[in-house]
Amino acid sequence: MRVLGIETSCDETSVAIYDQCQGLLVNKVYSQDSLHADYGGVVPELAARDHVRKIVPLILSTLRQVYLKPEDINGIAYTAGPGLIGSLLVGATVARTFAYACKIPAIDIHHMEAHLLAPMLEKKAPEFPFVALLVSGGHTQLVFASNIGEYKILGESIDDAVGEVFDKIAILLGLKYPGGALLSQMAQQGITDRYIFPRPMIDRPGLNLSFSGLKTFAVNTIMSSAHDVQTHADIARAFEDAIVETLAIKCRRALDQTGLKCLVVSGGVSANHALRAYLARMMHILKGKLFFPSPEFCTDNGAMVAYTGFIRLKAGLFSDLPILVRPRWSLESLPRIR
Ligand code: KG4
Ligand code: ZN
Repeated sequence: MRVLGIETSCDETSVAIYDQCQGLLVNKVYSQDSLHADYGGVVPELAARDHVRKIVPLILSTLRQVYLKPEDINGIAYTAGPGLIGSLLVGATVARTFAYACKIPAIDIHHMEAHLLAPMLEKKAPEFPFVALLVSGGHTQLVFASNIGEYKILGESIDDAVGEVFDKIAILLGLKYPGGALLSQMAQQGITDRYIFPRPMIDRPGLNLSFSGLKTFAVNTIMSSAHDVQTHADIARAFEDAIVETLAIKCRRALDQTGLKCLVVSGGVSANHALRAYLARMMHILKGKLFFPSPEFCTDNGAMVAYTGFIRLKAGLFSDLPILVRPRWSLESLPRIR
């Protein structure tokens, strides 16, 4: 069985093919970063129009790269939400049209489930049940994952997502959008403890998170400090340290609360080196297991969509709907194995 996956929920157009026997055959990602850089964030209408231009040529070149034809594909998986409505509609329309023409199933995929399952693409894959920390540009969630489709949100950001805050502070530090990874690079030159930023909501019970206060703290610090390279690096360091430690404290709490020893971290921000290193130390001390996707599968990609589509197609867990996308969609409402 072979599934072609299409990801167009935001500003990456990506297509991949997952094969039951051989695993991931190909994953091609076209990033719109340069298109949105001047605006300091994604412009939804520009994103949708660019997906229209790129998606069909990308599907054809993906098939060509692995010497496959449309008739060699057994299902088309596509991100049906959450995401930007225009971008989602492009992927959904192309996927359902392709599926109709080839008389194969189209599988609607939840973007955050795809992130959550991305570490399963690795040789060393996690096994259910586990706690997942999903950290992307649009979401920050702690999830109890007991099986495919069985997800309980333990906590989430009550305001900004972590990636979003990284990107906003990066712009104020003079970095290009999306600046999460660039801010992290800058932080490596920073001196620890020259600035100390708050760790939001750690003294409150529960697993919810909040990052808008930290964002404001960072903005005020930047505005009231000198604008030299070292000061910017020191602020980046303090900001990253605060985010990493806050996320780690909440992960530890989620593990304690659920009694689980296995932590999966995924989504764009899971590519962050400081976060990976800190959690690795923590899980070593806790004698637990820690799983990340490889960096190329942390940020948005078709591979995680193709893989999730393969799992859902095999289990018959997808909806045979017309073209329907959901800009907002709860991870707790997915079809599950009975
Ligand atoms: O999962 P993703 O590709 O898209 C969404 O679903 O939102 O995540 C993108 C986010 C951006 O905010 C980007 O700046 C952030 O992930 N990101 C990082 C790093 N790499 C990507 N943030 C911090 N450190 C990184 N190394
Ligand atoms: Zn994403």
